[in-house]
Amino acid sequence: MKILVTGGTGFIGSHTVVALLEEGHEVVIADNLVNSQRNVVTKIKRITGVKPFFYKVDVADKKSMRKVFSEHKFDAVIHFAGLKAVGESVQKPLLYYRNNLDSTLTLLELMKEFDVKNILFSSSATVYGTPENVPLKEEDPIGGTTNPYGTTKLIIEQILMDFVHANEGFKAVSLRYFNPIGAHPSKLLGESPNDIPNNLMPYISRVANGKLSHLNVFGDDYETPDGTGIRDYVHVLDLANGHVLALKAFSFNHAYNVYNLGTGKGTSVLELVHLYEKANKLKIPYVIGPRREGDIAASYADITKAKNELGFVPHYSVKDACRHAYLFEKKQK
Ligand code: NAD
Ligand code: UFG
Repeated sequence: MKILVTGGTGFIGSHTVVALLEEGHEVVIADNLVNSQRNVVTKIKRITGVKPFFYKVDVADKKSMRKVFSEHKFDAVIHFAGLKAVGESVQKPLLYYRNNLDSTLTLLELMKEFDVKNILFSSSATVYGTPENVPLKEEDPIGGTTNPYGTTKLIIEQILMDFVHANEGFKAVSLRYFNPIGAHPSKLLGESPNDIPNNLMPYISRVANGKLSHLNVFGDDYETPDGTGIRDYVHVLDLANGHVLALKAFSFNHAYNVYNLGTGKGTSVLELVHLYEKANKLKIPYVIGPRREGDIAASYADITKAKNELGFVPHYSVKDACRHAYLFEKKQK
């Protein structure tokens, strides 16, 4: 297939582009580099031997995106482009609504104009709000998001549903990611935030690398076995493969479909710390601090639907992801 990948130089996008190219798909990336670097394209070529087309473009810029659509005949779009920092979205809600919603609306308008009928969307487990029960199933209630970032995901899922309902033959699939971690074992691709990381795994990697003195564990008084928060950490290579598999959902009957992408297993903050220590034979100093506002006790996926319908089976362990993340971190300046 020929696939437009928005946000394709980002963390999950770049790994997915590699997986798509390795499967023989043709890829065109559209990314404005607001949170990634152009040299990722060369790194993708070093891994796969194929250089994807690259456009430095804001997906919300209709004129420039029309040029992209007119220069290629796409079979599908995978839409990663978006801003994703939860805390920043609370500070700058309009920036998040403007960027994440406008880019999606522009994309859908152009898909309609150029008759590109299939879209995979990067949604998030955040759409489940505060879960009543775990593991989370796709049919569990969504809503009650606690920050503008999460609300953009919720709204976009609704927009996609309305869009495919109104336009016969169009198909949309929302992939609800749990907590993507790890890096490409080549050490060429990974996650390296410019500022102090908000997320647990990149934070631990910075501590491991001596750039930060210790990890602050956000609360040990949750109702979980060791009192720390539980999440479903999925290796980014498995997640990338999930996108390749999800392309087959375009041949299913449903116009709109949703899949959880995680591992189905929960890991606590302290368990992750210990796995990281074991995987890399080092110590991660940590201090228990207060809870972080907006955090929930436990979130992990029921992945039965993705397994049965797409053949999605994660292959990498959390320990593998810890090893790969550290290998990548050590390569950073
Ligand atoms: P990322 O920031 O590494 O990648 C996003 C890419 O989109 C970046 O390369 C950025 O430059 C680009 N971008 C942003 N706005 C754009 C615009 N208007 N036009 C063109 N390019 C634009 O993030 P990621 O972790 O790879 O996440 C990819 C997607 O998955 C995002 O939509 C994110 O919300 C979603 N997601 C991520 C996580 C996570 O924990 N990483 C969890 C759930 C969902
Ligand atoms: N944590 C710490 N210390 C830190 C960072 C995190 O103890 O320095 C804890 C959190 O309290 C939580 C766990 O580690 O229990 C994971 O936190 P992350 O910030 O790594 O991930 P979240 O589950 O909070 O959020 C992630 C993405 C969101 C997405 C959400 C649901 O960052 O974008 O998963 O998919 F919305």
